[in-house]
Amino acid sequence: MALKALMAVSGLIMIGYLLAHMYGNLKVFAGQASFDGYAEHLRTLGEPILPHAGLLWIIRVVLLAAVLGHAYSAFSLWSRAHKARGGSKRYQTSKSKLGVQRSYASFTLRWGGVVILLFVIFHLLHFTWNTIHPGGAADSPYVRVVNGFSVWWVVLAYTLAMVAVGFHLRHGMWSALTTLGANTSAIARHRLNLLAYAVAGVVTIGFLLPPYSILLGLVT
Ligand code: HEM
Repeated sequence: MALKALMAVSGLIMIGYLLAHMYGNLKVFAGQASFDGYAEHLRTLGEPILPHAGLLWIIRVVLLAAVLGHAYSAFSLWSRAHKARGGSKRYQTSKSKLGVQRSYASFTLRWGGVVILLFVIFHLLHFTWNTIHPGGAADSPYVRVVNGFSVWWVVLAYTLAMVAVGFHLRHGMWSALTTLGANTSAIARHRLNLLAYAVAGVVTIGFLLPPYSILLGLVT
Protein backbone atom coordinates (compact mmCIF):
# COMPACT_ATOMS: atom_id res chain seq x y z
CA MET A 1 0.00 0.00 0.00
CA ALA A 2 2.84 2.42 0.87
CA LEU A 3 4.41 1.73 -2.52
CA LYS A 4 1.14 2.42 -4.33
CA ALA A 5 0.68 5.64 -2.36
CA LEU A 6 4.23 6.72 -3.27
CA MET A 7 3.46 5.93 -6.90
CA ALA A 8 0.19 7.93 -6.76
CA VAL A 9 1.57 10.99 -4.94
CA SER A 10 4.75 11.23 -7.05
CA GLY A 11 2.60 10.85 -10.20
CA LEU A 12 0.23 13.63 -9.14
CA ILE A 13 3.19 15.96 -8.42
CA MET A 14 4.45 15.33 -11.95
CA ILE A 15 0.99 15.94 -13.44
CA GLY A 16 0.98 19.33 -11.65
CA TYR A 17 4.36 20.10 -13.19
CA LEU A 18 3.17 19.03 -16.66
CA LEU A 19 0.11 21.30 -16.50
CA ALA A 20 2.28 24.27 -15.50
CA HIS A 21 4.94 23.43 -18.13
CA MET A 22 2.33 23.04 -20.87
CA TYR A 23 0.78 26.40 -19.94
CA GLY A 24 4.22 28.06 -19.94
CA ASN A 25 5.00 26.67 -23.41
CA LEU A 26 1.89 28.35 -24.82
CA LYS A 27 3.76 31.64 -24.36
CA VAL A 28 5.44 30.94 -27.73
CA PHE A 29 2.20 32.32 -29.20
CA ALA A 30 2.90 35.65 -27.45
CA GLY A 31 6.24 36.07 -29.29
CA GLN A 32 9.95 35.90 -28.58
CA ALA A 33 10.16 38.65 -25.94
CA SER A 34 7.35 37.11 -23.92
CA PHE A 35 8.69 33.53 -24.12
CA ASP A 36 12.30 34.46 -23.35
CA GLY A 37 11.09 36.80 -20.60
CA TYR A 38 9.17 33.89 -19.08
CA ALA A 39 12.27 31.61 -19.20
CA GLU A 40 14.27 34.37 -17.46
CA HIS A 41 11.49 35.00 -14.96
CA LEU A 42 11.61 31.31 -13.93
CA ARG A 43 15.16 32.02 -12.78
CA THR A 44 14.57 35.30 -10.96
CA LEU A 45 11.33 34.21 -9.21
CA GLY A 46 11.75 34.24 -5.43
CA GLU A 47 14.68 36.69 -5.46
CA PRO A 48 16.06 38.26 -3.30
CA ILE A 49 14.85 35.87 -0.58
CA LEU A 50 16.16 32.95 -2.66
CA PRO A 51 19.41 33.01 -4.68
CA HIS A 52 19.29 33.28 -8.51
CA ALA A 53 17.46 30.23 -9.94
CA GLY A 54 16.73 29.15 -6.33
CA LEU A 55 13.06 28.35 -6.92
CA LEU A 56 13.94 26.55 -10.16
CA TRP A 57 16.36 24.35 -8.18
CA ILE A 58 13.69 23.61 -5.56
CA ILE A 59 11.34 22.54 -8.38
CA ARG A 60 14.12 20.42 -9.92
CA VAL A 61 14.85 18.64 -6.61
CA VAL A 62 11.12 17.94 -5.99
CA LEU A 63 10.74 16.65 -9.57
CA LEU A 64 13.81 14.45 -9.36
CA ALA A 65 12.56 12.98 -6.06
CA ALA A 66 9.16 12.36 -7.72
CA VAL A 67 10.77 10.64 -10.74
CA LEU A 68 12.94 8.43 -8.50
CA GLY A 69 10.03 7.60 -6.16
CA HIS A 70 7.80 6.77 -9.14
CA ALA A 71 10.40 4.53 -10.82
CA TYR A 72 11.31 2.84 -7.52
CA SER A 73 7.69 2.01 -6.66
CA ALA A 74 6.97 0.88 -10.24
CA PHE A 75 9.93 -1.47 -10.18
CA SER A 76 9.21 -2.78 -6.66
CA LEU A 77 5.53 -3.42 -7.44
CA TRP A 78 6.49 -5.18 -10.67
CA SER A 79 9.07 -7.34 -8.90
CA ARG A 80 6.64 -8.19 -6.07
CA ALA A 81 3.98 -9.27 -8.56
CA HIS A 82 6.59 -11.24 -10.50
CA LYS A 83 7.67 -13.12 -7.32
CA ALA A 84 4.05 -13.68 -6.29
CA ARG A 85 3.50 -15.45 -9.60
CA GLY A 86 6.39 -17.74 -8.69
CA GLY A 87 8.64 -16.18 -11.30
CA SER A 88 6.35 -17.03 -14.22
CA LYS A 89 5.84 -14.26 -16.72
CA ARG A 90 2.10 -13.50 -16.62
CA TYR A 91 -1.17 -15.17 -15.83
CA GLN A 92 -2.07 -17.80 -18.39
CA THR A 93 -5.09 -16.91 -20.47
CA SER A 94 -6.81 -18.26 -23.55
CA LYS A 95 -7.99 -14.76 -24.56
CA SER A 96 -4.65 -13.52 -25.84
CA LYS A 97 -2.68 -14.91 -28.78
CA LEU A 98 0.46 -14.94 -26.65
CA GLY A 99 -1.27 -17.13 -24.07
CA VAL A 100 -0.42 -14.73 -21.25
CA GLN A 101 -2.47 -11.94 -19.78
CA ARG A 102 -1.53 -8.49 -21.01
CA SER A 103 -3.97 -5.76 -20.18
CA TYR A 104 -4.23 -2.45 -21.98
CA ALA A 105 -3.32 -0.68 -18.73
CA SER A 106 -0.24 -2.74 -17.87
CA PHE A 107 1.02 -2.32 -21.43
CA THR A 108 0.52 1.46 -21.73
CA LEU A 109 1.79 2.22 -18.24
CA ARG A 110 4.91 0.10 -18.43
CA TRP A 111 6.03 0.78 -22.01
CA GLY A 112 4.67 4.32 -21.91
CA GLY A 113 6.87 4.89 -18.86
CA VAL A 114 9.95 3.66 -20.70
CA VAL A 115 9.18 5.83 -23.78
CA ILE A 116 8.64 8.90 -21.55
CA LEU A 117 11.92 8.31 -19.69
CA LEU A 118 13.84 8.12 -22.99
CA PHE A 119 12.00 11.21 -24.22
CA VAL A 120 12.90 13.22 -21.08
CA ILE A 121 16.62 12.41 -21.58
CA PHE A 122 16.40 13.55 -25.24
CA HIS A 123 14.38 16.61 -24.17
CA LEU A 124 16.90 17.72 -21.52
CA LEU A 125 19.81 17.24 -23.96
CA HIS A 126 17.87 19.33 -26.47
CA PHE A 127 16.35 22.26 -24.55
CA THR A 128 17.94 22.39 -21.10
CA TRP A 129 21.56 21.37 -21.62
CA ASN A 130 21.63 22.52 -25.23
CA THR A 131 23.86 19.59 -26.19
CA ILE A 132 21.92 18.67 -29.32
CA HIS A 133 20.27 21.30 -31.48
CA PRO A 134 18.37 20.01 -34.51
CA GLY A 135 17.49 22.98 -36.73
CA GLY A 136 20.30 25.15 -35.29
CA ALA A 137 21.77 26.29 -31.95
CA ALA A 138 20.73 29.59 -30.33
CA ASP A 139 21.06 31.43 -27.04
CA SER A 140 17.40 32.39 -27.00
CA PRO A 141 15.06 29.62 -25.70
CA TYR A 142 12.39 30.87 -28.15
CA VAL A 143 14.71 30.52 -31.16
CA ARG A 144 15.78 27.06 -29.96
CA VAL A 145 12.14 25.95 -29.79
CA VAL A 146 11.30 27.43 -33.23
CA ASN A 147 14.46 25.96 -34.82
CA GLY A 148 13.81 22.54 -33.27
CA PHE A 149 10.19 22.26 -34.35
CA SER A 150 10.96 23.36 -37.89
CA VAL A 151 12.47 19.89 -38.33
CA TRP A 152 9.82 17.26 -39.18
CA TRP A 153 11.41 14.34 -37.32
CA VAL A 154 11.67 16.37 -34.12
CA VAL A 155 7.92 17.07 -34.35
CA LEU A 156 7.30 13.36 -35.05
CA ALA A 157 9.41 12.32 -32.02
CA TYR A 158 7.56 14.81 -29.81
CA THR A 159 4.21 13.63 -31.17
CA LEU A 160 4.97 10.00 -30.27
CA ALA A 161 6.18 11.07 -26.82
CA MET A 162 3.11 13.25 -26.16
CA VAL A 163 0.78 10.41 -27.20
CA ALA A 164 2.64 8.15 -24.73
CA VAL A 165 2.29 10.88 -22.07
CA GLY A 166 -1.45 11.14 -22.83
CA PHE A 167 -2.12 7.39 -22.46
CA HIS A 168 0.08 7.21 -19.37
CA LEU A 169 -1.75 10.13 -17.75
CA ARG A 170 -5.19 8.81 -18.64
CA HIS A 171 -4.65 5.56 -16.85
CA GLY A 172 -2.19 6.84 -14.26
CA MET A 173 -4.46 9.63 -13.06
CA TRP A 174 -7.38 7.22 -12.71
CA SER A 175 -5.21 4.74 -10.86
CA ALA A 176 -3.66 7.36 -8.56
CA LEU A 177 -7.01 8.79 -7.47
CA THR A 178 -8.36 5.26 -6.96
CA THR A 179 -5.36 4.44 -4.74
CA LEU A 180 -6.01 7.61 -2.75
CA GLY A 181 -9.62 6.57 -2.16
CA ALA A 182 -11.63 8.57 -4.70
CA ASN A 183 -13.16 5.53 -6.44
CA THR A 184 -16.05 4.90 -4.06
CA SER A 185 -19.19 4.58 -6.21
CA ALA A 186 -20.37 4.28 -9.78
CA ILE A 187 -20.92 8.04 -10.02
CA ALA A 188 -17.48 8.75 -8.51
CA ARG A 189 -15.96 6.33 -11.00
CA HIS A 190 -17.72 8.10 -13.86
CA ARG A 191 -16.39 11.49 -12.69
CA LEU A 192 -12.92 10.05 -12.20
CA ASN A 193 -12.94 8.78 -15.77
CA LEU A 194 -14.04 12.15 -17.15
CA LEU A 195 -11.35 13.94 -15.12
CA ALA A 196 -8.65 11.51 -16.26
CA TYR A 197 -9.63 11.96 -19.94
CA ALA A 198 -9.85 15.75 -19.58
CA VAL A 199 -6.42 16.14 -17.94
CA ALA A 200 -4.75 13.73 -20.40
CA GLY A 201 -6.44 15.49 -23.36
CA VAL A 202 -5.56 19.02 -22.21
CA VAL A 203 -1.91 18.09 -21.55
CA THR A 204 -1.44 16.21 -24.85
CA ILE A 205 -3.14 18.79 -27.07
CA GLY A 206 -1.68 21.75 -25.17
CA PHE A 207 1.86 20.40 -25.56
CA LEU A 208 1.35 19.63 -29.27
CA LEU A 209 0.01 23.07 -30.22
CA PRO A 210 3.43 24.83 -30.31
CA PRO A 211 5.29 22.14 -32.35
CA TYR A 212 2.55 21.93 -35.03
CA SER A 213 2.04 25.70 -35.21
CA ILE A 214 5.79 26.09 -35.78
CA LEU A 215 6.02 23.26 -38.34
CA LEU A 216 3.09 24.75 -40.28
CA GLY A 217 4.74 28.19 -40.25
CA LEU A 218 2.10 29.86 -38.05
CA VAL A 219 4.77 30.80 -35.47
CA THR A 220 8.13 31.98 -36.81
C1 HEM B 1 5.96 19.96 -26.96
C2 HEM B 1 6.23 19.70 -25.71
C3 HEM B 1 7.31 20.38 -24.90
C4 HEM B 1 8.03 21.53 -25.17
C5 HEM B 1 7.91 22.49 -26.35
C6 HEM B 1 8.94 21.74 -24.06
C7 HEM B 1 9.84 22.80 -23.95
C8 HEM B 1 10.79 22.93 -22.96
C9 HEM B 1 11.79 23.97 -22.88
C10 HEM B 1 11.95 25.11 -23.91
C11 HEM B 1 12.54 23.75 -21.77
C12 HEM B 1 13.73 24.59 -21.28
C13 HEM B 1 13.23 25.68 -20.38
C14 HEM B 1 14.37 26.58 -19.93
O1 HEM B 1 15.46 26.08 -19.64
O2 HEM B 1 14.13 27.80 -19.86
C15 HEM B 1 12.01 22.56 -21.12
C16 HEM B 1 12.49 22.02 -19.95
C17 HEM B 1 12.01 20.86 -19.37
N1 HEM B 1 10.95 20.08 -19.81
FE1 HEM B 1 9.86 20.40 -21.45
N2 HEM B 1 8.75 20.71 -23.15
C18 HEM B 1 7.78 19.87 -23.64
C19 HEM B 1 7.29 18.71 -23.04
C20 HEM B 1 7.77 18.18 -21.86
C21 HEM B 1 7.27 16.95 -21.25
C22 HEM B 1 6.13 16.09 -21.80
C23 HEM B 1 8.02 16.76 -20.12
C24 HEM B 1 7.95 15.64 -19.11
C25 HEM B 1 7.49 14.43 -19.35
C26 HEM B 1 8.96 17.85 -20.02
C27 HEM B 1 9.88 18.01 -19.01
C28 HEM B 1 10.80 19.02 -18.94
C29 HEM B 1 11.79 19.13 -17.88
C30 HEM B 1 11.97 18.16 -16.71
C31 HEM B 1 12.55 20.29 -18.15
C32 HEM B 1 13.73 20.81 -17.35
C33 HEM B 1 13.35 21.92 -16.42
C34 HEM B 1 14.61 22.43 -15.75
O3 HEM B 1 15.10 21.74 -14.86
O4 HEM B 1 15.11 23.47 -16.14
N3 HEM B 1 8.78 18.69 -21.09
N4 HEM B 1 10.94 22.09 -21.87
